[in-house]
Amino acid sequence: MADNTIPTSTSETGAPAPSDAFTLSVGADGPLLLHDHHFIAQMAHFNRERIPERNVHAKGGGAFGEFIATEDVSQYTKAALFAKGTKTETLARFSTVAGEQGSADTARDPRGFALKFYTSEGNYDLVGNNTPVFFIRDPMKFPHFIRSQKRLPDSGLRDNNMQWDFWTLNPESAHQVTWLFGDRGTPKSWRNMDGFGSHTYMWVNAAGEKFWVKYHFKTDQGIESFTADEAAAVSASDLDFHRRDLFTHIADGQFPSWTLYVQVMPYETAAGYRFNPFDLTKVWPHGDFPLIKVGTLRLNRNPQNFFAQIEQAAFEPSALVPGIGISPDKMLLGRMFAYADTHRYRIGPNYLQLPVNQPKTEVNSYTFDGAMRYQFSPGQPVYSPNSVGGPAVDEAAGAEPGWHADGEMVRAAYSLHSEDDDWGQPGTLVRQVLDDAARERLVGNVVGALSSGVTEPVLSRALEYWRNVDKGIGDRIAAAL
Ligand code: HEM
Repeated sequence: MADNTIPTSTSETGAPAPSDAFTLSVGADGPLLLHDHHFIAQMAHFNRERIPERNVHAKGGGAFGEFIATEDVSQYTKAALFAKGTKTETLARFSTVAGEQGSADTARDPRGFALKFYTSEGNYDLVGNNTPVFFIRDPMKFPHFIRSQKRLPDSGLRDNNMQWDFWTLNPESAHQVTWLFGDRGTPKSWRNMDGFGSHTYMWVNAAGEKFWVKYHFKTDQGIESFTADEAAAVSASDLDFHRRDLFTHIADGQFPSWTLYVQVMPYETAAGYRFNPFDLTKVWPHGDFPLIKVGTLRLNRNPQNFFAQIEQAAFEPSALVPGIGISPDKMLLGRMFAYADTHRYRIGPNYLQLPVNQPKTEVNSYTFDGAMRYQFSPGQPVYSPNSVGGPAVDEAAGAEPGWHADGEMVRAAYSLHSEDDDWGQPGTLVRQVLDDAARERLVGNVVGALSSGVTEPVLSRALEYWRNVDKGIGDRIAAAL
């Protein structure tokens, strides 16, 4: 040790390092030697420093904090993390969707709002966005949708024509696109946006009663957005504006918080509700299902190592705990497979053993081995059932809450409820939620996009699309173009 404060540099096997400045050569000017293991180890590890970026939501940032259940919602769920007074360590990661690792934080895009609750019953991941709806309602379309928002195969360029081609050929996108081209598409910071579970989930109480729920995290900092011009100006000077904003605020002790509310629908109401309550392109009007307060999420601890704690963080809607289940939302059902699969590819089969992903509860799983496995239960048998005291299922504790389903196997759209269509809710958003100034900005933002590379026949279809959302808005967009 050089002095009391500076640790000795070592090899990865723990011995003192020979040098961090000079390679081993034959004489000061001579050739380098293959047996310079310390040099080879540095170079070889460097070559492997990157892992694949997330296929979507690649650019983001995050922080740790705690969720405190401040209200009694035990009539709806038995989940331990939502028991009044419970404090649960939480990791949050915010992101854009389409951009790559180095892309601008302030681009027009939905923002990811991914949460990992390290609960006393295992990890619960709520992998949501800052929007209550989504572009599509069948997961078969997801890879097509994402590729249309990313890059052209020949030039490698982003392309508005491809984006609008997909959106206008999929009119169920209208609600999310209307939302995206309004102010919420360019939040001022991650601290100034709401988070939504977006899907409908199931809650189950201690008596086994089931409810359908939607999660709303309301920002305590207030909603603030950039105009398109402001967002573009920030992008030009600071690609990492949102990542920096979150990190510096937390470092300064200004801890952002959100209040969690849920909308709760009785289990039996779903079948006859005027909108299909499992359609991810729809909201449940608050007049039908008011917000019920649950608790507070506060972020108060920055990562110490961005790569280990944020880049290698793996969120998956399949990480559920007793008292919380999924729903017949086909998008959610598709996501139940997609996330753990992408983590096995991106990080490795034992991604759940990394400290940031490990649950705080004991793991006694019948998965074994695989690359980079390092946790194990000594002496645990590799098969079940067994006669040597290996882990045994507790059927009551592990019961997955389900729902009744029957019918022929078909490839079909959801059957429609009485008020289901693609244009009604986006029309309401334009006419009743936005004010005149916000409508004006919406028109300007759409015109900006449609006049940058959108060609026929997509352009005419886009005007028709907006006239279907709202005749007046469509006509204004057409006139401005
Ligand atoms: C069928 C539909 C979907 C599929 C197949 C899908 C797939 C994926 C994949 C493969 C990733 C990358 C994960 C990683 O590498 O760590 C991802 C990330 C993400 N997705 Fe989805 N996604 C879907 C829909 C949605 C929806 C509807 C939402 C929000 C309500 C959402 C929110 C997110 C978020 C927030 C992330 C980033 C998580 C993080 O911060 O690490 N996705 N998605």
